[in-house]
Amino acid sequence: MACLRMQSCFFFILTLCFWASNCVEFNDIFEPSWATDHVMYEGELLKLKLDNVSGAGFASKATYLFGKTGAQIKLVPGDSAGTVTAFYMSSEGTLHDEFDFEFLGNASGEPYIVQTNIYSNGTGNREQRIYLWFDPTADFHTYSFLWNHNQVVFFVDSVPIRVFPNNERLGVPYPKKQPMKVSSSIWNADNWATQGGRLKINWSHSPFISTYKSFDIDANESGVNAESGGVNENGSKWWDMPSYSKLSPLQRRMLRWVHRNYIIYDYCNDSTRFPTSPPECAGLRF
Ligand SMILES: *[C@@H]1O[C@H](CO)[C@@H](O)[C@H](O)[C@H]1NC(C)=O
Ligand SMILES: *[C@@H]1O[C@H](CO)[C@@H](O)[C@H](O)[C@H]1NC(C)=O
Ligand SMILES: *[C@@H]1O[C@H](CO)[C@@H](O)[C@H](O)[C@H]1NC(C)=O
Ligand SMILES: *[C@@H]1O[C@H](CO)[C@@H](O)[C@H](O)[C@H]1NC(C)=O
Ligand SMILES: *[C@@H]1O[C@H](CO)[C@@H](O)[C@H](O)[C@H]1NC(C)=O
Ligand SMILES: *[C@@H]1O[C@H](CO)[C@@H](O)[C@H](O)[C@H]1NC(C)=O
Ligand SMILES: *[C@@H]1O[C@H](CO)[C@@H](O)[C@H](O)[C@H]1NC(C)=O
Repeated sequence: MACLRMQSCFFFILTLCFWASNCVEFNDIFEPSWATDHVMYEGELLKLKLDNVSGAGFASKATYLFGKTGAQIKLVPGDSAGTVTAFYMSSEGTLHDEFDFEFLGNASGEPYIVQTNIYSNGTGNREQRIYLWFDPTADFHTYSFLWNHNQVVFFVDSVPIRVFPNNERLGVPYPKKQPMKVSSSIWNADNWATQGGRLKINWSHSPFISTYKSFDIDANESGVNAESGGVNENGSKWWDMPSYSKLSPLQRRMLRWVHRNYIIYDYCNDSTRFPTSPPECAGLRF
């Protein structure tokens, strides 16, 4: 069975990871959100399957407000055209907040696209698209979100690929009130995902399987020691320490490297779609 270690770094922070001795079940933290029979456990691995019957998804049982959440994922190998695997955090309702990684599959040997998006107070339309600097189907890589009062950062391994700073001073709503679930899913998106929807899923190559090895959640879980305010020994939370309030100089260099070499699309740069540039695009983005 998939197995997680639960380690209380401070009394309210949970760090969860596979491969350890002191174990709780994957099922204690997550649950299938649809198509239970397409969510498969194999040893330490968890697999989500898309076939001509269904896609699949899972979500955390708890919700989290601020912290870091991530997963090690190996994406659908070979011909993945028309498939999308997503790893995301989301709250509920029409005025919801959401952070998305969407991995857009491709024909065998052609590159995946990683599309990211951010919703705040129900408004999204903030897509960015990049290529990766490695083959995401060859090995596991960590995809994660860092989230605090000052910024949301999307990481691929230790490389920040996107930052959404708190731009409330520019009138941009910032996600800071709505706890979110951590979720993942795979589905048929061949009407848009691959080469603009021209490449369809070839069902003779199904099932399409994305594989998860571990999860890392070090975040403020709703309802856990709520009366304590969730403070650590210093009366604060690690993600609100100054060192996490903005990117380090090294992280800024890495983000610029991604933007120079791997970005394909940036909504901030799309004047056809946004004749008036969205306000946060005027702020410092990297
Ligand atoms: C789905 O795939 C299975 C196995 O490949 C095949 O037998 C079945 O006919 C397919 N069903 C549909 C609705 O395409
Ligand atoms: C969120 O959107 C609603 C509906 O448009 C609006 O009334 C509210 O003021 C917004 N909240 C923030 C924080 O911008
Ligand atoms: C798929 O491959 C084509 C050709 O290399 C490329 O133009 C496209 O950006 C790739 N990714 C997707 C998701 O279409
Ligand atoms: C689907 O894959 C099969 C097996 O590889 C191949 O023979 C067929 O031509 C493919 N269909 C399309 C529409 O590309
Ligand atoms: C943790 O989340 C709760 C809401 O679920 C919030 O009231 C509290 O301020 C948060 N604490 C920290 C340390 O972020
Ligand atoms: C607590 O504060 C000390 C001194 O400012 C600092 O070195 C340490 O990293 C802090 N610990 C935590 C858990 O925030
Ligand atoms: C931004 O726009 C310029 C001019 O239209 C274009 O040359 C460039 O490729 C765009 N960059 C991105 C990341 O979209």
